[in-house]
Amino acid sequence: MKQKKLDDLNKRIRQQFNDKELVFGDGSVNSLVMLIGEAPGANEVKQKKPFVGQAGGQLKEFLSILKLKREDIYITNVVKFRPTRISKKTGKLINRAPNKSEINAFKEYLFEEIDIIKPKIIIPLGNVPLKAVIDSELQISKEHGKLLQANIKGNIYKIYPLYHPAAVIYRRELKKVYIEDLIKLKDTMLK
Ligand code: URA
Repeated sequence: MKQKKLDDLNKRIRQQFNDKELVFGDGSVNSLVMLIGEAPGANEVKQKKPFVGQAGGQLKEFLSILKLKREDIYITNVVKFRPTRISKKTGKLINRAPNKSEINAFKEYLFEEIDIIKPKIIIPLGNVPLKAVIDSELQISKEHGKLLQANIKGNIYKIYPLYHPAAVIYRRELKKVYIEDLIKLKDTMLK
């Protein structure tokens, strides 16, 4: 039932963005935990799965701290294609952050995805998903590790924002607080 709804949703997304290589959500549709990233990168597009590249390595560590397997969670991105730009240095295509219009184009689809999965807790990874699910004024640097709430399509969800795994790779000083946030999540909210 949920899978059928998700397939129908993904079909509609494919119809709208038929010129793009898309990466849809992955994992258990019955999961209580839903992780939301920003947008896929090159590896994700190649393998057609979210969080399989470098950020995926960080995600593995994340899951091992929570004592969860990838199959136990549902993971998706706000924007379902890879936003790119041409590097001035190398002339090659590189990732960029999704812009406002790309985020807005996918927001309603994300709400539908949440409404199908109906997780117990939503974990936005970084600013893009945090702002997409709650409020565009919020900042991950202030909200990470706090239990918030959002009303999505008439249902109230627990929201527990965390830094994006890639931010933890580039800013090593975030690692300690990231682990503390994860332990808090495991000890209090996933019980
Ligand atoms: N970063 C994201 O936000 N999502 C992915 O799927 C991969 C990297």
